[in-house]
Amino acid sequence: MIKDTPINSDIVKRVLKEMPFNDVGKASIREIVRLARRIEEETGKKFIRMEMGVPGIDVSNIAYEAEMKAFKSGVASKYAPITGIEPLKHEISRFVKNFMDIEISSEYCFATVGSAQASIALFLVACRMDKNSRGVLFIDPGFPVQKLQIQVLGYEYDTFDVFEYRGKKLRAKLEELIIKRKISSILYSNPNNPTWISFTEEELQIIGELATKHNVVVIEDLAYFGMDFRKDYSVPGKAPYQPTVAKYTDNWTMLISSSKSFSYAGQRVGMMVVSDKIYNSRYPDLKRFYTTDQFGHSLIYNALYTLSAGVSHTPQYGLAALLKAANDGKYNFRNDVIIYGERAKIVKKIFLKYGFKLVYDNDLGEPLADGFYFTISYPGMGGSELLENLIYHGVSAIALQTTGSERHEGLRACVSQIGEEQYSVLEERLKKFQENFSS
Ligand SMILES: Cc1ncc(COP(=O)(O)O)c(C=O)c1O
Repeated sequence: MIKDTPINSDIVKRVLKEMPFNDVGKASIREIVRLARRIEEETGKKFIRMEMGVPGIDVSNIAYEAEMKAFKSGVASKYAPITGIEPLKHEISRFVKNFMDIEISSEYCFATVGSAQASIALFLVACRMDKNSRGVLFIDPGFPVQKLQIQVLGYEYDTFDVFEYRGKKLRAKLEELIIKRKISSILYSNPNNPTWISFTEEELQIIGELATKHNVVVIEDLAYFGMDFRKDYSVPGKAPYQPTVAKYTDNWTMLISSSKSFSYAGQRVGMMVVSDKIYNSRYPDLKRFYTTDQFGHSLIYNALYTLSAGVSHTPQYGLAALLKAANDGKYNFRNDVIIYGERAKIVKKIFLKYGFKLVYDNDLGEPLADGFYFTISYPGMGGSELLENLIYHGVSAIALQTTGSERHEGLRACVSQIGEEQYSVLEERLKKFQENFSS
């Protein structure tokens, strides 16, 4: 191992040895967080933290005021309704209409403890609706925690890396897998974590048509709602709208996170929206586990109920106020988060300057948008080796192999926590990296 590294190499080596994993390339996001923190504590040197998508922006005062008001009104002593509080449900329904052009009654809009809870609740129902089906197909790369959820639940999943199957090629691949692997639901994020590609209307139409044809439930994960900054999706009631599969099938469910678009990650309040068709569909096999064969009832009154018996009251009021302001055209959520795009442009440039390459380097032949994440590799290094070497240079990330990517040579890098004052430190460290590894 090279000794002359920005972070004391003896300490890094020891802390790495003390971790419960042998291969840093297989470590989860939270495990890398723990690793970076330990090294920071022991060396007193701050890392360039690129492993976790923690919003680096303060939440709007609108949410703060609304939460305080709700708290003072005494809601903390009461259980919140399992479906979510009415003002929030109402604003979610308006939000879906205003920013996606999709009509949905507030009856089918729900509060969840982040999208993370919504996905686990949906898996608990979607993977059990047909005893002959296997479960979820991930259009990958994706968010590793969702696969961990499937594993923890003891289900099986299928996956493929979509990069080679963009555009028209998606249809044949998707249909082959749906039939061969007996898929009951499909999940993807759009824009995509970690590659930051965005599906086109044509691709969403293919997914929608196949979902209808084969009676598959689509779980559309909009964790980065409106954050493909190449377009402005933030004007209520006006095109362009955040693209969605709901235009092309009635078999849709949506996860709309407040964590990134509204910088509300810490309050753990997210939105789950289910089409009326899926909510009211009946699957006799559900009765093996739930009190009813109805998808929606099983989802809310059995699965969601057992997970946390509702979402804390005050964050629901905070989110309702944010959505109301966005719906009324008084709060532009895009303006608050567009800074991630600007940061990504600069940080990407620094990586490329010192010999790194983009792994997923185009979006259907077009340049990638700049946003929350991008993917990097370094010539001649595998993903685990690259990550370990970067840690000695004070930069943390996660390996793409944990995301369902077939490109194991790469890492996912997140720009959300990097401050402007760190650009020069990043530059110094990557320069050193290049010196250390130039052959
Ligand atoms: C693609 C994707 N889905 C879901 C989530 C979970 O979001 P939440 O904080 O709403 O639980 C994340 C968080 O990073 C994500 O990147």
